[in-house]
Amino acid sequence: MKNNKKNNQPIGVFDSGVGGLSVLKELEHLLPNEDFIFLADQLYLPYGEKNKKELISRVSKITDYFIHQHNIKMMIMACNTATSNTIDDLRKKYSFPIVGTIPAVKVAAEKTKTGTIAVISTVATSKSQALKKLINNYCQSMHVLNIGCKNLVEMVERGLPSVVDKLLLEYLEPVVDSNADYLVLGCTHYPFLKKNIKKIVGRKVKFLDSGKAIAKRARFLLVTNSMVNNQKKHGKTSYFTTLDPSKFSKTANLLLKSKIIAKKAKV
Ligand code: DGL
Repeated sequence: MKNNKKNNQPIGVFDSGVGGLSVLKELEHLLPNEDFIFLADQLYLPYGEKNKKELISRVSKITDYFIHQHNIKMMIMACNTATSNTIDDLRKKYSFPIVGTIPAVKVAAEKTKTGTIAVISTVATSKSQALKKLINNYCQSMHVLNIGCKNLVEMVERGLPSVVDKLLLEYLEPVVDSNADYLVLGCTHYPFLKKNIKKIVGRKVKFLDSGKAIAKRARFLLVTNSMVNNQKKHGKTSYFTTLDPSKFSKTANLLLKSKIIAKKAKV
């Protein structure tokens, strides 16, 4: 198949911070020939404490930045908070494919044996209509612990200081006291906390995040829209942050054990 202009365009991926890297990792793995532009909107972090209107305005600015500065062919919202509060409005405004991140509630509901599942997410996601709808649709006869967490995102941004365990203990106490067998990580920062969470909830609670499902959805849309990048060489990822590139690079390298060098973006 020959590449046309669109096929060679990059895919834009964004989050409020380093959390989106947990999704990017899966995208790079499943789509090795695609080029990615990753944007961490750290100047506006945390998204989890913003309201719907603020989030729509911010995400619209990011989308315009991706289109005008990087000519993207598809956008991935590697952020549950942005997705649950903005994706419907964004899809009305832009005609290119937009893939969102939603907590893996449906999968947890299908897999649970105890009939109790837990979802941890940011405050904005836990209160969102989108999450309420997911729970209503898929967890009719189940017990769902919907736990909104403050400050966990900042802990990941700070490179996981030891105080994170104390905070997690507070949020996860109801999970430990329940018979939940699945814990949905409803924020893309949280996969970086898996080791810490495991220490608290033990082995009988399994984790679910959305990274792999997002990558599969992106691949499906690339194929069905004839947008696959057919270059033979490995794709490249460029990293941008709206705040401090050296701080972003340091944390990203710590979390991913890689050598990322980010640039500053004005959005
Ligand atoms: N990673 C974002 C999410 O998945 C967290 C956003 C934030 O609070 O800044 O919701």
